Amino acid sequence: MCRTERPGDGDEIDEVVFAAFNRPDEADLVLSLREQGAITVSQVAEYEGAIIGHLAMSPVLVNGEDIGWLGLAPVSVWPDCQNQGVGTEMIREAIQAASDFDWAGIVVLGNPAYYQRFGFRPASELGLSCPYPDAGDAFMALALKQPAPTGLVTYHPAFEQL
Ligand SMILES: CC(C)(COP(=O)(O)OP(=O)(O)OC[C@H]1O[C@@H](n2cnc3c(N)ncnc32)[C@H](O)[C@@H]1OP(=O)(O)O)[C@@H](O)C(=O)NCCC(=O)NCCS
Repeated sequence: MCRTERPGDGDEIDEVVFAAFNRPDEADLVLSLREQGAITVSQVAEYEGAIIGHLAMSPVLVNGEDIGWLGLAPVSVWPDCQNQGVGTEMIREAIQAASDFDWAGIVVLGNPAYYQRFGFRPASELGLSCPYPDAGDAFMALALKQPAPTGLVTYHPAFEQL
């Protein structure tokens, strides 16, 4: 079952993110984004009352401007629960939530084979780039509104700690 994050979920989310990535960096990023009020969409997956998955979206800038685009990151599923559709369900719900709340588009850095099933395309096809020179087709975009912008996408400063 997927739902939005509620007050009191923070510690369990922290554990899931830490376990999914097997290092503290992404869990620290989620904490830092939350502390700075930068998480716009925070979705959790629950199984038998325990949180087994989490994803966050935070606003990104395009050419230095806030034009209603979001960055999807990080996405975390408890290791024993991976490859059972949990990530897919959370991502679909989060995209729907972003659309319902009138956001204009979403970018993600990840595996193209995984994210294309949600409608993401290489961001370069839309004329969007990111500051990470090695990203290539791993930097993807999904426009929720037209026309889609072109230009340089920058994530929240908290991502610089990754
Ligand atoms: C990546 C992740 C969020 C996917 O969630 P999930 O619930 O395991 O995935 P689902 O069951 O929804 O989807 C399974 C598909 O994802 C693929 N997949 C699983 N982990 C993957 C990974 N790290 N990279 C790319 N693809 C992955 C599987 O191969 C499978 O593909 P298929 O449907 O073509 O066979 C999860 O595996 C995870 O937390 N991984 C560790 C953290 C991470 O790498 N996060 C993503 C970067 S932000």
